[in-house]
Amino acid sequence: MSGPLPGPVTVPDIVRKKERGERIVMLTAYDAPTARLLDSAGVDILLVGDSVGNVVLGYQNTLPVTMDEMVHHTRAVVRGASRCLVVADMPYLSYHLGIQESVRNAGRFVQEGGARAVKVEGGRKRAEVIRALREAEIPVMGHVGLTPQSVHDFGGFKVQGRTGAAARSVLEDALAVEEAGVFAVVLEGIPAELAALITERLAIPTIGIGAGPSCDGQVLVIHDLLGISPDPVPSFVRKYADLGTAIREACVRFGADVRAGTFPADNESYHLKPEVLDELRAGLERFARRHWRS
Ligand code: KIV
Repeated sequence: MSGPLPGPVTVPDIVRKKERGERIVMLTAYDAPTARLLDSAGVDILLVGDSVGNVVLGYQNTLPVTMDEMVHHTRAVVRGASRCLVVADMPYLSYHLGIQESVRNAGRFVQEGGARAVKVEGGRKRAEVIRALREAEIPVMGHVGLTPQSVHDFGGFKVQGRTGAAARSVLEDALAVEEAGVFAVVLEGIPAELAALITERLAIPTIGIGAGPSCDGQVLVIHDLLGISPDPVPSFVRKYADLGTAIREACVRFGADVRAGTFPADNESYHLKPEVLDELRAGLERFARRHWRS
């Protein structure tokens, strides 16, 4: 058991956490006010996930999310976070079309976005890109298992690594991204036993989502944790609040108050000084009289 890092949290701080047996706390964030709250709550890493696509922007999945959208949200999160390590997710096709373009896109997150690291999905086939980003001094977080950008390849959001061969494949992916130089790796949607084996085998921290309790850290999508995401949420989500209900009820009450004329009240309104009001009224009367005469 350990407390929050004082910050600003760095990539080496995260690596040291595994060496010290301290769990890593990561959440997604997409805007400045949420980042500010999570920063003050002692979260270690804020991931500007491409889940912004389905969680915030109303897309069906993460595939339509663009570099410009990701940079925009990364800048907002960085403005809100003074302590957390901000990691920006590289969106679909931003690191698939050649090394030079991948490095340029990752560099945008650091230069324009203010992120201190990027995340890329995929295992062995991403090793070359990861090496190139490391050559460009960009810290990289890996992501293996149920990688959402592979949704069509997987035929849906399906748990990966359930058979012997599939489990070996996920393990090899994790080993490959470690070897390529990632500082941590997200394990998503894999059996807890497989995540435990990978966590034991890797020197770098593993951060689980739907991957059981043995990972070196855990990440959730903030809207799922707060109970804002529409049901059904995945079974691995624990809702720590029901803000969805709270937000809806607050807005129903606002609507009722507006319709009843009870909002805004006197103390929720600005007022003119009486002498200014008198002067205004007198002016209006003079204007009306002139207008009436002509
Ligand atoms: O985009 C995202 O939110 C993620 C997390 C689920 C790890 O990649």
